Amino acid sequence: MTRGERRAALEQIASEVLDCTRCRLHEGRTRAVPGEGDPDTEVVFVGEGPGFNEDREGRPFVGRAGGLLVRLLGAIGWQREDGFITNVVKCRPPDNRDPQPDEIAACAPYLRRQLEALDPAVVVTLGRYSMGTFMPGARIGQVHGTSVSADPETGARAALVFAMYHPAAALRSPAIERESFEDMARVPSVLLRARERRASDPAMAPAPAPVVAAPAGATPAPPPTPAADDAPPLTTTDPAADDAPQLTLF
Ligand code: URA
Ligand code: SF4
Repeated sequence: MTRGERRAALEQIASEVLDCTRCRLHEGRTRAVPGEGDPDTEVVFVGEGPGFNEDREGRPFVGRAGGLLVRLLGAIGWQREDGFITNVVKCRPPDNRDPQPDEIAACAPYLRRQLEALDPAVVVTLGRYSMGTFMPGARIGQVHGTSVSADPETGARAALVFAMYHPAAALRSPAIERESFEDMARVPSVLLRARERRASDPAMAPAPAPVVAAPAGATPAPPPTPAADDAPPLTTTDPAADDAPQLTLF
């Protein structure tokens, strides 16, 4: 996908989220929160769901937890705009209660489509519910600070998933806050490893461009060539992306 196609896909998803009624969470929301960030990013942060401030502003992580997320990112020299930030459920659960399994399931296609469009190298999960989507059955106390290969069913085709505590949990516990800074400090090296895997494993080469249906009467398009060992490196062919900032590693 080119940068423009990614942007268009993300905008389409966002517009569907904004008037979605697929689960009961739409009843109490002020605004749905589709997520935001750089469509060309290599790193996607997935939180739990909007809170009070997010629900009012329609943007993810703009309250106190967001302030800590920005500080955690700042500690590795990143800004929130460098990544893409979204949530497992896009509408605020009443009184900030935990999202329920049927609500997570109803909302999952949006996250999957966002990940398909973004094709990130790294997915950072923030909190238990996000972790549960990517590492079913894992326990946050055991897996925070570690990564696994993403199940392509999640929409992240060729990514490493890195688990972190939720910033709101870090706000409640100095020990968890300290561990969160330690975990975040590992993200650049996870990104480096993810880039290396994507570059060296032919199965992780960029997906072939979708075959566009030929207009009636036209010569059928040739079949897509299967990804070969000499598949192009992970550089985009979109000239507009040439000057897109790359996340610095250290
Ligand atoms: N907590 C989350 O999980 N997501 C947000 O967007 C804000 C707070
Ligand atoms: Fe739709 Fe997700 Fe909001 Fe439920 S939480 S109404 S599925 S956007």
